[in-house]
Amino acid sequence: MENGTYLKSVFGLEGKTVLVTGAAGGIGAAISEGLAYAGAEVAVCGRTLAKCEALAEKIQSGGAKASAHFLDVADMASIQSCVDAVMARYGKIDVLFNVAGINKREGMLDVEEATYDRIMDTNLKGVYFMTQAVAREMYKRKNGSIVNIGSHNDAAMLGGCSVYGAAKSGVIALTRSMAVECARYGIRCNGISPGHIMTELTKVSWDSPNRAPYMRERIAMERGGQPEELVGMAILLASDASSYMTGQTYHIDGGCLCGGTPWEYDTKY
Ligand SMILES: NC(=O)c1ccc[n+]([C@@H]2O[C@H](COP(=O)([O-])OP(=O)(O)OC[C@H]3O[C@@H](n4cnc5c(N)ncnc54)[C@H](O)[C@@H]3O)[C@@H](O)[C@H]2O)c1
Repeated sequence: MENGTYLKSVFGLEGKTVLVTGAAGGIGAAISEGLAYAGAEVAVCGRTLAKCEALAEKIQSGGAKASAHFLDVADMASIQSCVDAVMARYGKIDVLFNVAGINKREGMLDVEEATYDRIMDTNLKGVYFMTQAVAREMYKRKNGSIVNIGSHNDAAMLGGCSVYGAAKSGVIALTRSMAVECARYGIRCNGISPGHIMTELTKVSWDSPNRAPYMRERIAMERGGQPEELVGMAILLASDASSYMTGQTYHIDGGCLCGGTPWEYDTKY
């Protein structure tokens, strides 16, 4: 293989069709754009169709390939019609990114059943049945990569996020069971767990005079992440460079899970 073509053949996404859920959100948009500019054709899917259309147009005007599709992952009929629409357009789905997710921050003693159901239906049940619908298509070609977005909250629990934490922990468990079940069909399943990333979902926390310093103090790099900082791992897991990787979840968190520094120190150098 010639110099220059090697990297592209390993990491390049030319010819791959990627379906991204929650694609118009902060992380979904960064991943959709990143994968499209790495060569994939991206089906930008989400509940807010107008935002998905705007993102698809932006990607197209940047010279890459994308289309917008309505999807509500909490609605079984919507899941199937979205997958059908993407299949009708591209004839295959090589990669699925389950990005759609919601949260409501409140104490465990106050959570009502409707809130519990809404978060679980979107963050866990949605991932399960979206994956099932796409994996049935991948199965026919014995090839595919599925990437689930977990959270810092699947490993380190935060007060006031009990339902979200349980759902995201479930997503990581599901990633491992999917990996075990689907390996025989040529389908790999991995997770990306973002730390504190600056998007609409976390704006309320980054804008808060109490919460922002709490988070910054606990992140080794002392800052929130940008959605674009997840794109490298997204390309790796979508590409053939990860052909022997399955069942793992990768935390991208600026060192938030490593620990922290409770005392002051400096260096003489
Ligand atoms: N921002 C962070 O710090 C952070 C950290 C860890 C994990 N995450 C996870 O990353 C993912 C993306 O979060 P984000 O920060 O980009 O948030 P965001 O609010 O910007 O984006 C979430 C997207 O999901 C879509 N969505 C919600 N419910 C949906 C449904 N039923 N069907 C289809 N789409 C739906 C929303 O419309 C939105 O576009 C979520 O799963 C979130 O839990 C985010």
